[in-house]
Amino acid sequence: MIHGGQAAGPASRTPAPSIQRGSTVLLADSKQFSAATTPTYGRGGLATQDALRTALCVLEHAEDVQLYPSGLAALTGAIQALTGAGDEVLAVDTIYNPTRRFLVGTMARFGVTTRYFPPTASADEIASMITPATRLIVLESPGSLTLDMQDVPSIAAMARAHGVMTLIDNTYAAGVLFKPLDHHVDVSVQSLTKYVCGHSDVFMGMAAARGPAAAALATSAHEIGWAVSPDDAYLALRGLRTLHARLALHGAAMLTVAAWLAQQPEVIDLLCPALPGDPGHALWSRDFSGACGLLSFTLDGDGRAVDALLDTLELFGLGYSWGGFESLVIPCDAQLAKRAHMVRRSGPMLRLHVGLEHPQDLIADLRRGLDAFAATASLSEQKQEMTAA
Ligand SMILES: Cc1ncc(COP(=O)(O)O)c(C=O)c1O
Repeated sequence: MIHGGQAAGPASRTPAPSIQRGSTVLLADSKQFSAATTPTYGRGGLATQDALRTALCVLEHAEDVQLYPSGLAALTGAIQALTGAGDEVLAVDTIYNPTRRFLVGTMARFGVTTRYFPPTASADEIASMITPATRLIVLESPGSLTLDMQDVPSIAAMARAHGVMTLIDNTYAAGVLFKPLDHHVDVSVQSLTKYVCGHSDVFMGMAAARGPAAAALATSAHEIGWAVSPDDAYLALRGLRTLHARLALHGAAMLTVAAWLAQQPEVIDLLCPALPGDPGHALWSRDFSGACGLLSFTLDGDGRAVDALLDTLELFGLGYSWGGFESLVIPCDAQLAKRAHMVRRSGPMLRLHVGLEHPQDLIADLRRGLDAFAATASLSEQKQEMTAA
């Protein structure tokens, strides 16, 4: 029972790599044991994780990629790899909220402080914040929820000239729509949970880099012991094969939904850099090759009316982790309130992830939701008028 059926040798060749499960690596002989030039332990990843890392290097134009068990772990792991006690981080205020939680909590406990700048800050304005302690600038463009654009190439070039590293959360672009490492950024991080895996059933993250940043990430991953399962790595690699096709559909459907939303009387403002007229459109057109399925908008009404909308929608699920095949919606105001440079907006804000359903079905669903919103909003108005009278 112990020796029968053990792996004998290479299997038949298939386009997809095999799922190689293994904690123990069996070394050929004592010479290989002492040379340690081949993997000697499964934690760092075997054939399946290696295949995924190779493909992600191609996607992100990177020399090396580290895998992490979630997108958040990739962000926290990479930030930890690049900083130490006494260092300071400058972060864009529109970063993914759990990244801020890590900076405020764990990093502060380990002696790393953070200051925030608004997404509109220019390279010169960020340069004026740099002190001898500044070690890392954390970017996200388009930023979470409000989708504000940053001039990433000029911020990253400025940082490099000051000897400060840059790290970007590149999850919106999925590595396809924007290539940060070609624009002087040192580390590109993605939640692979989103578009790369693409089916809302896997957690994984990656950090891609070249040169010294890649070496720092590799050392830290080795020391800390980040590991992902070969089954999950297989699913991420499988997702990569259709990533371009899915993203193109998400982006096109989002633009159809956005054009319709712009015409609806209940909608005050659309936040989406792919739309002409958005403040980030010029940077987006210069740097990005397309849009994903994310879109935010504000509404003319109150929280009760928003609840009526959310409870009426059928195709848009109420859920956070976007990038899968399905459409989702979340209210944003509670998360926005945590920002240092909060922009006051005139109405409640929602974020949509436009999935792969037919856009006309999504529009019909949204119209039903907006009807419920409008009915509740006018009831609230009538009540307010009666109270005032
Ligand atoms: C922009 C962004 N970065 C990172 C993450 C974290 O990814 P994960 O859920 O894989 O930890 C998310 C999740 O919503 C996200 O929206």
